[in-house]
Amino acid sequence: MRAVIVGSGSEIPPTVVTNRMLSRVMDTSDEWIRERSGVETRYYVEPGTTTSDLGVAAARRALVAARVEPSAVDLVVFATMTPDHYFPGAGPLLQAKLGLGNVPCFDIRQQCVGFLYGLQLVDAHVRAGLARTVLLVGAEVHSGFMPYTAANWDYLYGRTDVPPTPAEHEWNSRFRHLTVLFGDAGAAVVMRAEEDGSRGVIDQVLGTDGAEYDKLYVPGTGFKHRPYTDPEQFARGDHIPVMDGRYVFKLATTRMVEVAQQVLERNRVTIDDVSLVLMHQANRRINEHCQKVLGIPDAKVIHNIQKYGNTTAATIPLLWDEAAREGRLRQGDLVLLVAFGAGMSWGATLVRA
Ligand code: UT7
Repeated sequence: MRAVIVGSGSEIPPTVVTNRMLSRVMDTSDEWIRERSGVETRYYVEPGTTTSDLGVAAARRALVAARVEPSAVDLVVFATMTPDHYFPGAGPLLQAKLGLGNVPCFDIRQQCVGFLYGLQLVDAHVRAGLARTVLLVGAEVHSGFMPYTAANWDYLYGRTDVPPTPAEHEWNSRFRHLTVLFGDAGAAVVMRAEEDGSRGVIDQVLGTDGAEYDKLYVPGTGFKHRPYTDPEQFARGDHIPVMDGRYVFKLATTRMVEVAQQVLERNRVTIDDVSLVLMHQANRRINEHCQKVLGIPDAKVIHNIQKYGNTTAATIPLLWDEAAREGRLRQGDLVLLVAFGAGMSWGATLVRA
C-alpha cells in the first residue's frame, strides 16, 4: 500500500508586492533582492485572511482535481509555522470550513520542511492502514511577521503619500534581510491509498539538528516567557524571526545536497532516472548551487521563487501544483523533493507521480 498524490491545488493571495514597493518602507533595492535571492514579487493577503483560509481554498481545488468528495477524507495534515491561533492549529479550522467529517487532524510545524515531514506522516498512516484518503496542506501568512505600522503598509501599497518616519524606516530596515524574502500562499494535495505499489511515496530521508535552532527562530511570544507575550517583547521586535542568513545559506547548501544523494543512493537511482526536482524556494542561489553539485539539467528543475518568494510549508506543494497544471508531471514520473529550514530540519523524498 502506498500514498499516491491524486490531485493538487493552490491559492495565491490577490495583492502582488514588488521589490520596488518594499523599498518605499525600508532601505533595500530591487537589484539587491533579485541578485541575492532571486525574488522579484511576492503576494500578501489583506488583513483578516488567514493561513487556514488559504489552506481551505487550496484544498478545495485539490479535491476537485482529485475528484474526491470532502466526505471521503479520513485524515488531515496541516503544515504551517503561521497558524491562525496559538492553538488550536489550522487543521481543525480547515476541517470545519470544508465540512469534513470529524476525522483526525494533525498540525505539524517543521517550517520549510513541513510538507516533506507531512508526506512521511501520511505515508506511514496509509501503510499502517490507518487512513485511505488524506488532505495534506502547506500554507503560510507571513505578512503578519512584517514590522510595518498601518501607515507604512498604506504607503507601501501607494494608498497614501505619508512616508515612514526616519525611526520607522530604520526599524523596518533592521529586518530587511528577512522580510524581503517571504510571501503568503497555500497549497494542498489529496493523497490516496493505492495497492498497485508502483506510484506514490517511494522513500524519504528526513533529519533535524535542534542544536542549531537559534540560527532561525522567533525569540519571543513563547512559553519560555511569563506571560508568553508582553509589550517589551514587542518593542524589542522579538515577535519577528531572527535569522543568521549566511550560516543558514551554508547549512542549506550542504544538507540539501547530502540528503538528496542519500535518498537517491538508497534507492539505487540517479538524477537520470528522475524527471523533475522540486526544491524548497528559500533562495534561488541555494538551489542553483544544489543543482550544479547534483548535476541536474535545467529542464528538470522548476523555480517559482521569483513570483512568490519563500512561502515556507507551501513552496513544494505549490511547485507540484504548477507543474501538474502546466503538464510537466506525467503519471509514472519519478520526482525528487528536497528541502531545508528552521529546526534546523531537512529532507528529501522520492515520489512517483
Ligand atoms: O527558508 C528558510 C531558510 N532560509 C534560508 O535558506 C535563507 C538563507 N540565507 C539567504 O538566503 C541569504 O543569506 C540572504 C538572502 C538572507 C542574505 O544574502 P547574503 O548574500 O548572505 O547577504 P548578507 O547577509 O551577507 O548581507 C550582505 C549585505 C549586508 O550589508 P554590509 O554589512 O555588507 O554592509 C546587509 O546588511 O547586504 C545587506 N542587506 C541588504 N541590503 C539591501 C541585507 N539585506 C538587505 C536587503 N536590501 N534586503
